[in-house]
Amino acid sequence: MAETASTVFDVVILGGGSGGYACALRASQLGMNVALVEKGKLGGTCLHQGCIPTKALLHAAEVADSSRESEQFGVRSTFEGIDMPAVNEYKDGVVARLYKGLQGLVKSRKITYIEGSGRLVSPTTVEVDGQRLEGRHIVLATGSVPKSLPGLDIDAERVINSDHALTLDTVPSSVVVLGGGVIGCEFASVWKSFGADVTIVEALPHLVPLEDEQASKSLERAFRKRGIGFELGARFAGVEKTEAGVRVSLENGKQVEAELLLVAVGRGPVSADLGYEEVGVEMERGFVKVDGYCQTNVATISAVGDLIPTLQLAHVGFGEGILVAERLGGLDPAPIDYDGVPRVTYSEPEVASVGITEAKAKEKYGDDGIATVTYDLAGNGKSQILKTAGFVKLVRQKDGPVVGIHMVGSRVGELVAEAQLIYGWEAYPDDVAQLIHAHPTQTEAVGEAHLALAGKPLHAHS
Ligand code: NAI
Repeated sequence: MAETASTVFDVVILGGGSGGYACALRASQLGMNVALVEKGKLGGTCLHQGCIPTKALLHAAEVADSSRESEQFGVRSTFEGIDMPAVNEYKDGVVARLYKGLQGLVKSRKITYIEGSGRLVSPTTVEVDGQRLEGRHIVLATGSVPKSLPGLDIDAERVINSDHALTLDTVPSSVVVLGGGVIGCEFASVWKSFGADVTIVEALPHLVPLEDEQASKSLERAFRKRGIGFELGARFAGVEKTEAGVRVSLENGKQVEAELLLVAVGRGPVSADLGYEEVGVEMERGFVKVDGYCQTNVATISAVGDLIPTLQLAHVGFGEGILVAERLGGLDPAPIDYDGVPRVTYSEPEVASVGITEAKAKEKYGDDGIATVTYDLAGNGKSQILKTAGFVKLVRQKDGPVVGIHMVGSRVGELVAEAQLIYGWEAYPDDVAQLIHAHPTQTEAVGEAHLALAGKPLHAHS
C-alpha cells in the first residue's frame, strides 16, 4: 500500500469488469502505469453473473435437448433428468478456470490490482478504504445491476433476478419470465430445455423487440413450437405470493401462476453514491454521459461499459476500454460504430444480427431506397442436418452496400463474424456472392443470401 500512496498512476480504473479490465490490459500494453480497483471479483458481470455462466447453462440445455431428441437422429438414449448441482459444478468450473486465467493475465501485465470499494473524490483521485489513488486520468467502469419495476420486490426466493437464477440448485416446475428481451429469452430457453413450464410476459409487441421484426416473429414461432408460452403487448400489473409460488397479474386482466417469477426488465447503471456527481461528471438517468471517444465532460475522466448509455454488451465494454486506453496512450483510435457491433441472443434457436433492421433502413433510406432478401435455412444442407429452422435476411441500400444482416436458427451466432465483416467492409451483395463458401456449412446460407440479392440465386426459388 505504501507503493500506491506515493505513486501517481497514468490511469486509475474504477471497476474490473469487461470494460475496466480491457482498458487496464491495453493501457499497460501501451506502457502506462495502471491501477485497477474492484470491489467484487475481477471479470465482473460477464464472467461471474452474465455471459459465461448463462452460456454454460444454455450449453447444458442443448445437451439435454440432444439426449431427449436423439431418436430423431436414430440414436437411442434415455433422458433421465437434470442434476442441477452437477450442472452448476460444470458451469462454476468454466467460470473458475477463466477467472484464474484472467487474474494471471492482470498480474503478468504488472497492473496494480486493488481489492476494495472505490469512490471518486476528485477529477484525479479515487479513494479505496481510506487510501487515495492519484491518476493523471480516471476511467469509470462500475457497470450495471439487474433492474426491477417500482413496487416489485425481488425477494431472491420466489421473485428473482438473473443473479439468483444462476444459482438455483433445482429446476423450477414453472416460471413466469417478466421481460422478453435477451435475458428473458435466454433463461426461458434454458428452463424449457430443463423441463419447466415457461411463460414470458413482454410489454412490447414482440420478443427481442430491438431485433428486426422478422427475426422476432421467427423466434416466437420457434418458441411456440417448443411449448414456451408468451404474452406479448402485456404489461405487468402485480404479483402475489401463493402457497405454491406466485400469481402474476397483467394489465390485460390475465393471471399466470408459477413457482417462480424471474424479473428481466433490463439492467441499470451502478453510479449512485460513488462521488460522480459531486466531482461534476455529467449524468443522464444514472448513466455517465460521454462523447464518441468515451470522454466525459471532465477532462481527466472517461467512462466505459454498461455505465454509459451504449449497448450493454461485454464485447462493447472491451471495445470501449481499448478505445480509451489507446486515446490516453496517444494513439488515434476511431470512434465505435455501434450499429456494426454484433448482437447474439443465445437461446434455442439463436438470434444474431449486425447493422440496422429493415424498419430503421426504411427510415434512413426511404421505403423505396432499400432491398431485402430472406434466405430460408430450409435450403441449407447443414441446417437440415441439424434439423433447425430459420433464415438469413439481408437489408441493403438500393444500389449500395449491405447495411443489415439478421439471422435466426441453431448456431447462427457463429455466422455473425462473417456478417460483421460484410457490414464493416460496406460490401455490395456482388462482392460477397463471388466468395465460395464451404459446403456443407451454415455459412453457405450467408453466401446464398448474397447470391440471391445479387440477382443470381442458387439453391433458392427466384
Ligand atoms: P432488455 O432491455 O433487453 O429487455 C427487457 C425487456 O423487458 C424489454 O423487452 C422490455 O420491453 C420488457 N419490459 C420492461 N418493463 C416491462 C413491464 N412492465 N412488463 C412487461 N415487460 C416489460 O433487458 P434484459 O433482457 O434484462 O438484458 C439487460 C442487458 O443485458 C441488455 O442490454 C442485454 O443486451 C444484455 N444482455 C446481453 C446478452 C447477450 O448479448 N447474449 C445476454 C444477456 C443480457
